[in-house]
Amino acid sequence: MSWRWRFSQGDTDFASMDLIERTVLLTGGGTGIGRALARQLASKGNTVLICGRRLPLLEDTAAVSSLIHPYRCDLTSSQDLQDMLDAIARDGHRVDTLISNAAILGFESLSNDLDLGVAKKMIDANLWGPIELTQRMLDGLREAPDPVIVIVGSPAGLGPLANTPIYSTSKAGLHAYAECLRYHVQGQIRVIEVFPPVVDTEMLAEKNWKKMSPDECARRMVRGIESGQEQVWIGVSKMFRLLRLALPPGRLFRVVNDWSPREQE
Ligand SMILES: NC(=O)c1ccc[n+]([C@@H]2O[C@H](COP(=O)([O-])OP(=O)(O)OC[C@H]3O[C@@H](n4cnc5c(N)ncnc54)[C@H](OP(=O)(O)O)[C@@H]3O)[C@@H](O)[C@H]2O)c1
Repeated sequence: MSWRWRFSQGDTDFASMDLIERTVLLTGGGTGIGRALARQLASKGNTVLICGRRLPLLEDTAAVSSLIHPYRCDLTSSQDLQDMLDAIARDGHRVDTLISNAAILGFESLSNDLDLGVAKKMIDANLWGPIELTQRMLDGLREAPDPVIVIVGSPAGLGPLANTPIYSTSKAGLHAYAECLRYHVQGQIRVIEVFPPVVDTEMLAEKNWKKMSPDECARRMVRGIESGQEQVWIGVSKMFRLLRLALPPGRLFRVVNDWSPREQE
């Protein structure tokens, strides 16, 4: 084993690593944080396999580097997942790093007008899709040298935002899955969670909030992953982490929902 568990300030972290010359499968690589991450990883010499539903956007991401390879795949379709994994194997790639980044966000009320179909799609894309993909890839990852699974979460998964209840629920489930997965594959695969701040992407295009650029977010993600942290908190999400440590759960919900970004007048 080329890395070991270590304790740092009460958290269990991994030894540091270099994200270079790996073969990365990155979901949601056609836009936003995923696009920035794909290009940065390719510029470090990694082969980056990107997937998403919109092939033209994936091809745009891939246009800047011959190390980026697009695969069309809807994570909510088991058939698409299997077809993508078959195509990756046929193309001769052996993935050692999975980055589960794709997600969709919705703002809705739970009082009486929740669109159940849309809500289910969000849970499928943000929670079940990543779980199914990860579980299908576990055996292959275990055979790779120093395998890594990165799960892109959200502070909303740890302190739910009341105006994005289904997204928050999906990210809470993903956090629970990440923690259990880390326990089950301990000593075999490092499982890293990343918590971005508010980032200037398609997801929040209509919101006039203060946002970090996707490039900056991706840079900090790479640095955090390489430094060996099992949880990478970026920008303002670090403040959220401190609140979570300091406040009891019920209080955290109230503080987060009073403090979360508001529309600018
Ligand atoms: N932006 C923020 O402020 C923020 C904050 C905290 C956490 N995050 C997290 O960061 C990650 C990246 O989000 P982003 O901000 O970069 O948003 P984004 O630009 O909207 O990217 C999301 C990506 O996911 C893909 N996707 C969505 N549903 C999919 C499906 N069913 N199958 C395959 N791909 C799918 C989309 O591509 P297609 O539509 O082409 O499929 C898109 O490329 C997400 O996990 C998000 O929750 C973002």
